[in-house]
Amino acid sequence: MSNNYALITGASSGIGLEIAKCLAEKKYNVILTARSEKKLIQFSSEISQNYGVKSDYIKCDLSEIDAPKILYDFCESNHYQIDVLINNAGYALPDLFHISPMEDEEKFLRVLSTSVIALTKIFLPKMMKNGHGNIMIVSSVAAYAPPSSIQSLYGPVKTFMNRFSESLNAVYNKHKIYSTALCPGYTVTNFHTASGVQNEMDNVPDFLKKSARRIAIEGVEGMLNNKKVVVPTKTWKFIVFLLKIVPKKVFDFLSSFLAPGRYE
Ligand SMILES: NC(=O)c1ccc[n+]([C@@H]2O[C@H](COP(=O)([O-])OP(=O)(O)OC[C@H]3O[C@@H](n4cnc5c(N)ncnc54)[C@H](OP(=O)(O)O)[C@@H]3O)[C@@H](O)[C@H]2O)c1
Repeated sequence: MSNNYALITGASSGIGLEIAKCLAEKKYNVILTARSEKKLIQFSSEISQNYGVKSDYIKCDLSEIDAPKILYDFCESNHYQIDVLINNAGYALPDLFHISPMEDEEKFLRVLSTSVIALTKIFLPKMMKNGHGNIMIVSSVAAYAPPSSIQSLYGPVKTFMNRFSESLNAVYNKHKIYSTALCPGYTVTNFHTASGVQNEMDNVPDFLKKSARRIAIEGVEGMLNNKKVVVPTKTWKFIVFLLKIVPKKVFDFLSSFLAPGRYE
């Protein structure tokens, strides 16, 4: 069996776990990382048994500055070659911007952006040496949406990540390294509970909520076809289309029905 692996952050739950399963279905060996070690042990063993691939895990908190180096050293010491890097870990902060402690904002920025940049930076040279690589950044439809009164930094960070993904493509496509920004809309995962914003999700109409499995299938398919941006499901593709063409005032009015509370 080869020593080529996909490294997936935030693989203990939701979209990350489903992406790991989708990749394993396609015979990629996987390395799962997150903070919940018990879940990583369980899912890692289930994946290797169910899909006949090699699977390993490493507990790691991406809000810590040395986390990317720890992950890289783990792969090096085990001679794992990372062909696919999935930057998926993420959450939202529940409080209004003026209430959240700056320390929480900094941790949030590290998990959703700085660690993504650091992981990409540390794994890129080997991908270049190997002559191929796929990077996925799990972004969000929030990257295209108007700012919301809650989560002041979430949308801006996701926009930043989309632009970062574009920059990677501009420079590294010639090395056969491709970056995909996966932009899901509302997805049924642990995200809203873990982020303390489950009430926001409860108010969203069912037709806007998609399964993590569906997001992962479309995301992995798009990434393996070197797509630059993937907005899964027709519903959310249409919404992103509207976000690009409809005047902001009209969209804000519609949002008060589709995502009550979000834009008050
Ligand atoms: N759910 C949605 O509606 C939605 C929509 C658009 C985009 N997204 C994006 O999708 C991505 C995955 O979210 P999800 O919906 O699958 O939520 P989820 O089920 O809550 O999964 C989040 C993952 O991130 C990990 N994580 C959180 N903080 C971490 C930290 N400090 N260090 C390392 N890992 C950490 C969690 O693991 P541990 O707690 O075990 O560390 C978990 O595995 C996020 O980037 C999110 O912004 C979600």
